[in-house]
Amino acid sequence: MAYSKLEGKNVVIIGGTAGIGLAAAKMAADQGAKVWAAGRSESHIETARQVCEGSFEVRQADTHDAEALDAIFREVGKIDHLVSAAVGGERTLKPFLQQTQEQFQAAYDKLWGYCNVVRVGAPYLQDDGAITLVSGSPARKVAVGQSPLSCVGASVENLVRCLALELAPIRVNVVSPGTINTAMFDHFGDKKEETLQGMTQSHLIKRAGSSEEVAAGILFVMQNEFVTGTTVDVDGGRLLS
Ligand SMILES: NC(=O)c1ccc[n+]([C@@H]2O[C@H](COP(=O)([O-])OP(=O)(O)OC[C@H]3O[C@@H](n4cnc5c(N)ncnc54)[C@H](OP(=O)(O)O)[C@@H]3O)[C@@H](O)[C@H]2O)c1
Repeated sequence: MAYSKLEGKNVVIIGGTAGIGLAAAKMAADQGAKVWAAGRSESHIETARQVCEGSFEVRQADTHDAEALDAIFREVGKIDHLVSAAVGGERTLKPFLQQTQEQFQAAYDKLWGYCNVVRVGAPYLQDDGAITLVSGSPARKVAVGQSPLSCVGASVENLVRCLALELAPIRVNVVSPGTINTAMFDHFGDKKEETLQGMTQSHLIKRAGSSEEVAAGILFVMQNEFVTGTTVDVDGGRLLS
């Protein structure tokens, strides 16, 4: 294994039991980091345990459960990298006027969960540590029926800029995925591949991205010590399409 800046570092990934977070957990562990990945459901936890084959720890926590988060952070002790890749909120895909206030607000559970992760986790972070959050291309690419995703994603990105100022020298960054082939789209069943293909036909790169491609963006901002307050887009050119 080539030398990595993650060698021996303590990395916590909330939302690390599936999709992008799981890929980042595996990649960091492969580079020598000591990784704790957490999510809510037993099914994802079990999958993550199988995928990691003992190369990292898997725990149960909800971004909205400060005590469960604190238990993990206490176990880790000093955190070098804190990542939240949790979905954490509802995704109601309907035009704004066809949504109830409750549906719109439920998207913001993602933001409140991320706030919780940062609030509870920050005291455990090393001064040269970093926080990485995950937004999504709707934050800056608006589309009909996606107002909750756009608004919450933009809020996550602005929160990151605020935190980068307030928490410096701790670095805070956000990675913004485009359309990525993860469990998020499993509800399409056997139409998943076809649906993702259709969704990405107007993008510059006409396919869905992989969890590993986004995880590589997460590991970039984790390791590059000259990067803070920034947004890294891993979206197949969706913003320009
Ligand atoms: N896939 C895409 O196309 C796409 C596009 C734009 C943005 N994103 C963003 O990228 C991030 C990762 O998405 P993904 O596609 O990798 O999703 P995913 O495959 O569904 O994985 C999400 C992970 O987060 C966990 N999780 C969800 N809610 C949680 C909560 N409240 N507390 C703790 N863990 C929670 C899930 O486990 P449990 O469900 O068991 O808790 C799972 O481990 C999310 O922030 C998502 O909004 C994804």
